[in-house]
Amino acid sequence: MNDKPPSLRFSKQSLELSTEKAFDYLDMASSLALKGMKIVSFGIGQPDFPTPTHVVEAAIRALKEGFTRYVSPPGILELRSAIADHVSKFTRAGDVKPEETIVLPGAKACLFIAIASYVENGDEVVIPDPGFPAYESIVRYSGGIPVFYELKWDEDFRMTLEGVQNLITNKTKMIILNFPHNPTGAMCSPSEIKGVLETAKERGILVLSDEIYDHYVYGEVEFQSVLSDENWRDFIIYVNGFSKTWSMTGWRLGYIVAKEEAIKRFTLFAINNFSCTCAFVQKAGVAALNGPMDFFNEILDDYKRRRDLSYKLLNEVPEVRVKKAPGAFYLFPCVKEVLKKIGMTTEEFAIRMMNLKGVVMIPGFPGFPAKAGDGYLRYSYSVPMNVIEEGLRLFHEGVEEITN
Ligand SMILES: Cc1ncc(COP(=O)(O)O)c(C=O)c1O
Repeated sequence: MNDKPPSLRFSKQSLELSTEKAFDYLDMASSLALKGMKIVSFGIGQPDFPTPTHVVEAAIRALKEGFTRYVSPPGILELRSAIADHVSKFTRAGDVKPEETIVLPGAKACLFIAIASYVENGDEVVIPDPGFPAYESIVRYSGGIPVFYELKWDEDFRMTLEGVQNLITNKTKMIILNFPHNPTGAMCSPSEIKGVLETAKERGILVLSDEIYDHYVYGEVEFQSVLSDENWRDFIIYVNGFSKTWSMTGWRLGYIVAKEEAIKRFTLFAINNFSCTCAFVQKAGVAALNGPMDFFNEILDDYKRRRDLSYKLLNEVPEVRVKKAPGAFYLFPCVKEVLKKIGMTTEEFAIRMMNLKGVVMIPGFPGFPAKAGDGYLRYSYSVPMNVIEEGLRLFHEGVEEITN
């Protein structure tokens, strides 16, 4: 019963917004650390290397030069041009124009604005399950109905064309894709992506593709962007950002590529909300895109070694199974057998492990956020090798202690 007078009630839409568990676990782990507990966190989804020096220096230079005022709402032309050039080459889209880009404070802001611009009451949006929690939250906020496509262990958590096609109705407005995938690290083959794009085109459905992990690909599955479809302007909204590739999670910088008409609509959200994205951060973005990329080769080699070690050590834990995921920096170990033995929920187990051993992993359910992640943990290997060794030794011990 809501007994507050109507004027004091939150709007119905705002009540649809939900949280992101990874941040809750970050807070829980910080309070344990404050009490003196040693924490090994595999929880947070951010790279551990510093933002490259040339990028930091570009921001400092911009600040010193007084580049601290309002700038154009869809982004400074220099950055929009750099994005257009970069995306044209990287995704093989060929001819993206600066007017077909918008710069926003993070990929999450891009997701919000793109979904809120298109989705309205009763629209169905096909979403990966497990999946990044903001998708469901923003769809519900916009009045839409999330329809989840299940990513299954037996299919290496890959999206299948049939799985998506089975969910399409005459109310389907949008399909959300995210490969490499958070939280499973899965990818899709170019032919699977092509199949979904063809279906969307035939049925007149929008595709929102979140490709923020596009540089974290370890060679087992070929990565292909949706922008390689020559008709992308007709039905694709492409989201990306600087958080993962240049380790800029705290800078808040992301962008959308879409047809010019959509970019103009998205710009209204910027104007009515934050006016523009931070000016000097945009200069850092220009330096990132126009600067050398060889720094990332070493990082990718290192992440691959971390993944392989994590895969080996996790598979050695009794009753735990894990797949060697081909992208992002996540593994999605299955702990169903452990839970069966001890009669705990995934979340109870994750919290117990944190309190017992200080090891943080995010429960697949309710973390990501529907049911398919139940019985799994999201494990981020974005930490040095010695931390992986130590943390997984503790995890191994913890599983043995809890189950015996
Ligand atoms: C799949 C996915 N999309 C979007 C984001 C948000 O990125 P940003 O930091 O640019 O807002 C994240 C961050 O973890 C993510 O995992």
